[in-house]
Amino acid sequence: MTKAPVNVVVTGAAGNIAYSLLWRIADGDVFGPDTPVNLTLLEIPAAVRAAEGTAMELSDSALPLISGITVTDSASLAFDGAQAAFLVGAKPRGKGESRADMLSANGKIFIGQGQAINENAADDVRVLVVGNPANTNAYIANKAAPDVPADRFNAMMRLDHNRALSMLAQKLEIWPNDIERLVVWGNHGDTQFPDITYATVDGTPVQVDRTWYTDEFIPRVAKRGAEIIEVRGKSSAASAASAAVDHMRDWVQGTAGKWTTAAIPSTGQYGVDEGLVFGFPVVGENGAWEVVEKLTLDDEQRRRVDANIDALKQEAAIADELF
Ligand code: NAD
Ligand code: LMR
Repeated sequence: MTKAPVNVVVTGAAGNIAYSLLWRIADGDVFGPDTPVNLTLLEIPAAVRAAEGTAMELSDSALPLISGITVTDSASLAFDGAQAAFLVGAKPRGKGESRADMLSANGKIFIGQGQAINENAADDVRVLVVGNPANTNAYIANKAAPDVPADRFNAMMRLDHNRALSMLAQKLEIWPNDIERLVVWGNHGDTQFPDITYATVDGTPVQVDRTWYTDEFIPRVAKRGAEIIEVRGKSSAASAASAAVDHMRDWVQGTAGKWTTAAIPSTGQYGVDEGLVFGFPVVGENGAWEVVEKLTLDDEQRRRVDANIDALKQEAAIADELF
């Protein structure tokens, strides 16, 4: 093995998402098939034993890219030298709850972890917040880490993006990968706006029935998480892990000019208040995201984007009280 290992932290390591995610990372799906990974599994004290069991299973898989596995309940130890952090550890919502309802239960987790990242992580750290409400938890972690550049804190909206691709592909009877220039604007919450205005297939604009788009597609993508909880009895796990892999891989390795969706701290694009962690159309290039700028938004698009700005401003106001 010639390449240096990447130091990767997964929080919530005894949980459902981590049980898929860790294997995908260790298989080379994020950093490449010839890049070893040094895995750190962070858990709360009550779940460290279970995380040790997960670590034993990882070890038993004899995966050639794992250069080390550490299990800990110490955030400062976990984030020491961290280059990639998947912040998954947080309570999932139950039936009838909204993702925003989880802010009071989960928000404080991201103050402590943001501080530990600030003090201990490597200069090139990339942080992907998965735990809900993901955008505002990323806002909190960013705020708690003033010495780390804001663009190092992302939230996961790739699952929404993948859901939108899949549902549109089924409608058009094509493959998800055939669709380009789709975006999910805003918040990983009920106001999210899966937008097919610019979407193309083989360079040709996508055309669908407008009523299907507004009355079925947009609400179904936005409420898919709740639908999974209703049907499966537990929140999405393998699809969430897969989306986390897609997000971090594209952040690190780029998207070869193709659009995807990432929730990143706004620097004012599209009128989004600076600092809100917002889903934008992005292209991955040279290890960073570039927002696709200068798209024209019609009144309906503007209204939907603004609804997300309002929702995130309300969550940020609650989050600010936690400090
Ligand atoms: P889970 O309950 O199976 O596992 C969560 C784990 O996190 C538990 O083992 C728990 O002990 C641990 N944990 C709690 N606080 C922690 C802390 N301070 N440090 C480290 N670990 C901690 O839940 P899950 O199904 O893995 O989901 C995790 C989170 O991801 C939930 O908030 C869920 O809503 C969210 N989620 C987000 C998306 C998305 O698209 N952004 C998708 C799916 C799930
Ligand atoms: C999802 O979208 O599947 C997750 O955010 C889980 C949830 O609570 O919906």
